[in-house]
Amino acid sequence: MTDVKMTVNGQPVLGQVEGRTLLVDFLRTDLKLTGTHVGCDTSQCGACLVHVNGAAVKACTMFAFEADGAEVTTIEGMAEPDGSLSRIQQAFQDHHGLQCGFCTPGMVMSAAALLKETPKPTEAEVRAYLEGNICRCTGYHNIIKAIMAASGQDVSAAVA
Ligand code: FES
Ligand code: FES
Repeated sequence: MTDVKMTVNGQPVLGQVEGRTLLVDFLRTDLKLTGTHVGCDTSQCGACLVHVNGAAVKACTMFAFEADGAEVTTIEGMAEPDGSLSRIQQAFQDHHGLQCGFCTPGMVMSAAALLKETPKPTEAEVRAYLEGNICRCTGYHNIIKAIMAASGQDVSAAVA
């Protein structure tokens, strides 16, 4: 077992992990942060997406020990300090950007990473950025719409 120390959602955490422990399993099992989902375990679906030192990372593709010393943000860290939904989360709710919600944490984390890099993305840029996130039920249109709306762009004419 190896000691790991990282900051998760602004809080310092300590843990002991095996060399094979994935970051997603450390987050979900050891830290009980179950908002980060596992949809495939083969780095395809994006349900496990978190931010590590500000970059979007699929947490099933990284060992927990590799995040030693890192700043990690999960979906649980995305709400506003008063507990209300963040701008992106609210936009997903307002524009029906989810159905079962399984993919939603990863979608929100991807959207946040995109809007940090590109504050006013085109629809094509949003679609390209979400290439690594699979939604099995919403059909993407409303997810794209929600992200465009979260960027402050007018989506009133967008087709749902
Ligand atoms: S669980 Fe990590 S990409 Fe699907
Ligand atoms: S809302 Fe169900 S998988 Fe995306």
